[in-house]
Amino acid sequence: MEFRDVEHVVTELHKADYVCSKAIATVVFLSQATGKPVLVEGPAGVGKTELSKAVACSLGRRLIRLQCYEGLDEAKALYEWEYAKQLLYTQMVKDKIDDVISGASSLADAVDRIASQEDAFFSERFLQPRPLLQAIVSDRPVVLLVDEVDKSDPEFEAFLLEILSDFQITIPELGTRKAIQIPFVFLTSNDSRDMSDALKRRCLHLYIDYPDRELELEIVKLKIPGINRQLAEQLIDAIRSIRDLDLKKKPCVSETLDWARSLIALQVEDLSSQVVADTLNVICKYRADVDQVRGKLEKIVY
Ligand SMILES: Nc1ncnc2c1ncn2[C@@H]1O[C@H](COP(=O)(O)OP(=O)(O)OP(=O)(O)O)[C@@H](O)[C@H]1O
Ligand SMILES: [Mg+2]
Repeated sequence: MEFRDVEHVVTELHKADYVCSKAIATVVFLSQATGKPVLVEGPAGVGKTELSKAVACSLGRRLIRLQCYEGLDEAKALYEWEYAKQLLYTQMVKDKIDDVISGASSLADAVDRIASQEDAFFSERFLQPRPLLQAIVSDRPVVLLVDEVDKSDPEFEAFLLEILSDFQITIPELGTRKAIQIPFVFLTSNDSRDMSDALKRRCLHLYIDYPDRELELEIVKLKIPGINRQLAEQLIDAIRSIRDLDLKKKPCVSETLDWARSLIALQVEDLSSQVVADTLNVICKYRADVDQVRGKLEKIVY
């Protein structure tokens, strides 16, 4: 399956439980058309990660995810040799190894003989492919998600740039592996540090902000079909007023959804100041934020 146009992206993602604006759908469509990765930035919990899952689901592709963190290195991102397995095999084929080195005239000669058999131990069999290599060697097209790339170190970013520009990897012992199918790539970033201009240049840039009222209402209706419209509207208006306050952490879409579920569980039909005060812990995760909202309830619920 391929997306036919921008409108098609919107309807297909909706089927995959993702509500997207035309702006988001346009970038997704252009990424498909140009083969360029999408760098998705924006605050926490606005659907950055979820977007790539929805795209994978719509296109019927496997999602391969590389979760970034400080200290992530090539071995964890690309491939590793399975030392334990190699060691186990050498134990098991000890007799054969003895045959190879028997009659060697010196230590150097024995080492040379072992070296001539090296291929047996540096073969596909002992290679543990990590997400980037998996995405490259996959014979079916995949969606590659490089999640929270801002958490990785700048050196890793430079290495990633190389991979994203040619989609090929050279394994010294085995040779070069080139992607048969260019994956659909998403990189997400939470603004914890600025990504380099070089990375930005290679990607289509997508900033996902908190959704507007209509879009958020649609997300709530899609994810929580049982909710009554009036409550959904009250809840979103309240969330939007709370986002306008100067909070340490503004409530995001996942908190809107959690709040809606909580109100349904409490069988609330109408959002009053009392209900907001009683359930604030679902949407505000800092004591100072809870206090601030409590002090401004009259501005949040009319
Ligand atoms: N447009 C949307 N359509 C449907 N669900 C959404 C949408 N945006 C957010 N959500 C919901 O919000 C939750 C959080 O989204 P997601 O994990 O993708 O956020 P994120 O931007 O990756 O956050 P973080 O920066 O913390 O990783 C998802 O589980 C999803 O249910
Ligand atoms: Mg995420």
